[in-house]
Amino acid sequence: MKKIAVIIGSLRKDAFNRKMANALIALAPASLSLEIVEIGNLPFYNEDLEDDPPKSWIEFRDRIRMFDGVLFVSPEYNRSVPAVLKNAIDVGSRPYGKSVWNGKPGAIMTLSLGAIGGFGANHHLRQSLVFLNVPTMQQPEAYIGNAASLFDESGNLANASIKNFVTSYIDAFAAWVEINTANGK
Ligand SMILES: Cc1cc2nc3c(=O)[nH]c(=O)nc-3n(C[C@H](O)[C@H](O)[C@H](O)COP(=O)(O)O)c2cc1C
Repeated sequence: MKKIAVIIGSLRKDAFNRKMANALIALAPASLSLEIVEIGNLPFYNEDLEDDPPKSWIEFRDRIRMFDGVLFVSPEYNRSVPAVLKNAIDVGSRPYGKSVWNGKPGAIMTLSLGAIGGFGANHHLRQSLVFLNVPTMQQPEAYIGNAASLFDESGNLANASIKNFVTSYIDAFAAWVEINTANGK
């Protein structure tokens, strides 16, 4: 069983991305255990604070270290990564040489109201993950547009087509995690 941190790039209570994170958790195969890690309480990264880091930074870093992999589920803000998500990535990446992301297999799903499904955010996030040495799943890509139409009133995925895609995506990620943790990482 591999433990996966799910990080949501939206703080909105009714976020479509949170609904999608819950769907991914529900549809994940038995080989994965997914848990949402909240990021809304992390103070903005400021290197001056490293002398006496905020408790929430320390807890976040310690928590992420416990996971075998990381799954990002995020909207796109102004064609890029929402600040709250970038901040969480930055907090986890420091102090230099002690990044909690190093070597953890990852995947990115972006979900937006627009038709292009957060492509810009998805690839900007990939750019950071290359530097952070997070082997990030290449296929299937997941740029999910028209998010409002995907969920029913209870917040569940509304049709078989999206359910099938999300299932195949999380199955592929499970395989990706296995391959990338094969060396006992
Ligand atoms: C500051 C801001 C910037 C946004 N920029 C984009 C954008 O670049 N592309 C896009 O498709 N949607 C954009 N949107 C709309 C989001 O897709 C929409 O708010 C979506 O519901 C956010 O995801 P959530 O429901 O998980 O919070 C933006 C929304 C906000 C608040």
